[in-house]
Amino acid sequence: MRRMVAETRLHPADFILPAFVREGVSEPVPIAAMPGVVQHTRDSLRKAAVEALEAGVSGIMLFGVPDDAGKDAQGTAGTDPDGILQVALRDVRSEVGDDLIVMSDLCLDEFTDHGHCGVLDAEGRVDNDATLERYAEMAQVQADAGAHVVGPSGMMDGQIGVVRDALDQIGREDVSILAYTVKYSSAFYGPFREAVGSSLQGDRKTYQQDPANVREAMRELALDLEEGADMVMVKPAGPYLDVLARVADAVDVPVAAYQISGEYSMIEAAAEKGWIDRDKAILEALTGIKRAGAQNILTYWATEVARTLGRQ
Ligand code: PBG
Repeated sequence: MRRMVAETRLHPADFILPAFVREGVSEPVPIAAMPGVVQHTRDSLRKAAVEALEAGVSGIMLFGVPDDAGKDAQGTAGTDPDGILQVALRDVRSEVGDDLIVMSDLCLDEFTDHGHCGVLDAEGRVDNDATLERYAEMAQVQADAGAHVVGPSGMMDGQIGVVRDALDQIGREDVSILAYTVKYSSAFYGPFREAVGSSLQGDRKTYQQDPANVREAMRELALDLEEGADMVMVKPAGPYLDVLARVADAVDVPVAAYQISGEYSMIEAAAEKGWIDRDKAILEALTGIKRAGAQNILTYWATEVARTLGRQ
């Protein structure tokens, strides 16, 4: 009876798998703070994409991890057609075609030696408008490499409009934008910083949002929609379900939520200690995120959960 009247059901197609690919490694590199998640080699990434597809996951979001030697102040590797992210986009597209939606993180932080999401001005502050020019170029290079969807995650003001124009300019009206609309400056990103070998000193408080604010989130939402966002995202997910519900009520575009690294690691760590029923906790956390209004959920458990659901 509970099954019959359940108001929220998870489905494999709800999920998008975030995946890391590291330049120059011959074996996948485990991420200590995210047990079960690795920095992929080009080959193991292809395999992970195919496994996600076979499990019924609808998309994959790629993050590139360059050699430390490949980082510089401008994040040049992020716009190099032969940079690790672009190479990986081509690899995955050649493997999955149009059967799995291939998305790319559009942000400089993985590629800059200072670890910020943008370029810096003479005083060492993130320069919003100079960064937008870098994002425009990144969008075009990622589209050329095969991204179906780009995900601008750097939280610069005006980023969605600039990315849309840049894509249209090269005739890529078909490439969609998943806007990181409400992205909070969160302590729960901690494990991700290891995952991408981040060089960041300090924090991202001048461009990511204050966890205290929701009216500000609604303003970011209005701006992103006006600038051409095709889908909008709330991130992190679990600690921000109220924001997610508000956003989902307010819009008529698809809404995604990103269950981030810290949300993943907390459950894995508690399960490792035998303090929590891992599988039940995962499904409950994901059900909560969907119930709050997310149509799609980015989660490091995407393939595993899709398989479980497929068996039920
Ligand atoms: C920035 C970016 C971050 C995450 C996704 N894109 C890190 C940050 O803003 O510091 C975090 C994802 C996670 O924690 O799982 N490119």
